[in-house]
Amino acid sequence: MKIAIIGTGRLGSTLGKIWAEKGHMIMFGSQDPQKAIKLANSIGFNATGGTYEEASKFSEIIILAVPWSGAKESIKKAGDLKDKIIVDSTTTAAPHLGGPLIVPTPSAAEKVAKWAVGAKVIKAVHTIGVDSLTKLQFGSQQASLFVCGDYLDAKSKLKQLGLDLGFEVIDVGPLTNARLIEPLAMLWIELAYNQGMGTDITFKLLRRRKAK
Ligand SMILES: NC(=O)c1ccc[n+]([C@@H]2O[C@H](COP(=O)([O-])OP(=O)(O)OC[C@H]3O[C@@H](n4cnc5c(N)ncnc54)[C@H](OP(=O)(O)O)[C@@H]3O)[C@@H](O)[C@H]2O)c1
Repeated sequence: MKIAIIGTGRLGSTLGKIWAEKGHMIMFGSQDPQKAIKLANSIGFNATGGTYEEASKFSEIIILAVPWSGAKESIKKAGDLKDKIIVDSTTTAAPHLGGPLIVPTPSAAEKVAKWAVGAKVIKAVHTIGVDSLTKLQFGSQQASLFVCGDYLDAKSKLKQLGLDLGFEVIDVGPLTNARLIEPLAMLWIELAYNQGMGTDITFKLLRRRKAK
């Protein structure tokens, strides 16, 4: 798949590297294109770099890997997003672990969908720490990736990318259900940092029967 990664921070660079290694074509987008090119060169294959707009144009799926405070501006810089698939991975935590910045109604993902006119927005990848992304097997248990969005074609692409990372993918339904899964990130932050469990934790859906 052709994947744009918007934001070359910890999450974006980690996801891009893993997916490039799996054979996907990555274009990193950065506010500073030289930074994106340098990152792509450090991976060495299947990766290029440029601006947010260049990366978005190149891709069939866009990973929004920027802080919530920069999300609206980053979407603007990404240019025309009509018919693009956007994965909103943002966490709406206040700085210094100060609790949620916005209440779940409406969710951050629904706001992203409003800003990214014509795009197919998905919420995912917000309930795991970046360091766990390369080791998603926890003993005999596989980490769950909770995914929601209104477009089945878009979700099936992201589901494939989730499987490539090593997740068990859980489809949580339409984008409005981001209201249910976004608070999981707050729980993750609370447990990891304030309750001292550390960042190598994530969520797993347990069930007795296989899904339909
Ligand atoms: N780190 C994790 O474990 C993790 C896990 C799940 C979800 N998330 C979420 O994923 C998003 C990215 O997290 P991260 O850890 O990769 O953050 P990060 O290391 O701080 O990187 C964020 C990147 O976003 C870009 N950016 C655009 N607008 C910005 C602004 N106004 N201020 C600062 N940076 C801006 C920058 O890239 P350029 O300079 O290249 O444009 C920056 O390097 C966040 O919403 C976070 O909550 C993170």
